[in-house]
Amino acid sequence: MAENGVAPPRGKVLTLDTMNPTVKKVEYAVRGPIVQRAVQIEKELKEGVKKPFDEVIKANIGDAHAMGQQPITFFRQVLALCSYPELLNDNTFPEDAKSRARRILQSCGGSSMGAYSASQGIDCVRQDVAGYIERRDGGIPCDPDNIYLTTGASDGIVTMLKLLVCGEGATRTGVMISIPQYPLYSAALAELGAVQINYYLNEETCWSMDIDELQRSLEEARRHCNPRAICIINPGNPTGQVQTRECIEEVIRFAAKERLFLMADEVYQDNVYADGCQFHSFKKVLFEMGPEYSDTVELASFHSTSKCYMGECGFRGGYMEIINMDTEVKAQLTKLVSVRLCPPVPGQALMDLVVNSPQPGEPSYDNFMKERTATLNVLAEKAQLTQEMLNAVPGISCSPVQGAMYSFPRITIPEKAIKEAKALGQAPDMLYCMRMLEETGICLVPGSGFGQKDGTYHFRMTILPPTEKLKILLDKVKAFHRRFTEQYS
Ligand SMILES: Cc1ncc(COP(=O)(O)O)c(C=O)c1O
Repeated sequence: MAENGVAPPRGKVLTLDTMNPTVKKVEYAVRGPIVQRAVQIEKELKEGVKKPFDEVIKANIGDAHAMGQQPITFFRQVLALCSYPELLNDNTFPEDAKSRARRILQSCGGSSMGAYSASQGIDCVRQDVAGYIERRDGGIPCDPDNIYLTTGASDGIVTMLKLLVCGEGATRTGVMISIPQYPLYSAALAELGAVQINYYLNEETCWSMDIDELQRSLEEARRHCNPRAICIINPGNPTGQVQTRECIEEVIRFAAKERLFLMADEVYQDNVYADGCQFHSFKKVLFEMGPEYSDTVELASFHSTSKCYMGECGFRGGYMEIINMDTEVKAQLTKLVSVRLCPPVPGQALMDLVVNSPQPGEPSYDNFMKERTATLNVLAEKAQLTQEMLNAVPGISCSPVQGAMYSFPRITIPEKAIKEAKALGQAPDMLYCMRMLEETGICLVPGSGFGQKDGTYHFRMTILPPTEKLKILLDKVKAFHRRFTEQYS
């Protein structure tokens, strides 16, 4: 017996029963059970276990380099120079790469990328981000003080949600997210104990946003929580749509009318493929709507080094821009980010290169443009190929992949298979994807991991595998779907 009279407990301090219950509620389908099984199958193949295929093709995660996309030479040259400044004496590196590296190093403590930076991010990088946003948005001013460099976009999104969540019971913060959604949002809301408010995208109109649906979901949610924010992903993950300017204006009006904080996830801003589609930043549209909106609506928008033509996920670079945030809350935000010291400095350096890329007349410009254009063109071809080949399969229908890096086709699953899945306590599209993995080696994510309308089934597939492999993958999906349908009919 301890002095305080309480018997010391036996066994582990931390058990499933005594751990943080909000963590147990977190789910993240993109790295869920299918992917764990895929890793196991890869091991089995290496050990010589016979399978009806000789490799696992992973189309589950938006990790471009893992699927063979090559890095932009200029970015890696500057990062190499920053990591190992001795190379500044090496004549094989172009002068513009050297001058970028010198500028970044001068802004680092002790001229080393190994030093912590300011918590909000390196000053000159934030200035360059502001310059990029101004050019992107046709001259609308951007204050570097409103820029926070982040550890990928994920970090910025979670930080903003942390600031927003408060209250108990019916006053608990609710956050509107699209369904289907990128599961970072549901996972972060579960962890923070916030209320997830679902608004459904309209599959029939290429996953567009519908204001009546936003209104419906908001009104329902107001009965049990306090809705305070709306998140939009544009271009969309997992659905690949690019929102029209009119749609963005309507969402801004809705946020203004309903007093909602806007969170615009714009990590795919360069990934726009379809004719007639164009990326419009929420910031630009907000400012073009005039002071009634631009002076009042609170907005945080997010970008990253992980997507677009860069695909540099592992560097964990990103930024957020905040608009119209209360000054005292902003001070709290700055305090909050300072607790974690700073985002990775190599990621900040990379973000700088993305927003301050080689310019006409500089030695690296031609090669940079060649590499950037080639990567984006190949992605556009693969987006087209994916939707064409999927739509040619009876029982699969795929909305146009207008942007981002994914298709989210709808699949018809026979009644018998639905019953079998339910008996196993599985979502029907989980059963479908698991069977596809076991039979073909293709690793996809079931639509249920992103949310979907009841009674509809989907899977998410990236467009990232190299073109030849993507064709093989799509042929296998076609053959599998036919077999699966026949077997359960
Ligand atoms: C819509 C969306 N937002 C945010 C992220 C997170 O990206 P990052 O690597 O910048 O954290 C992803 C990653 O796939 C994404 O698809």
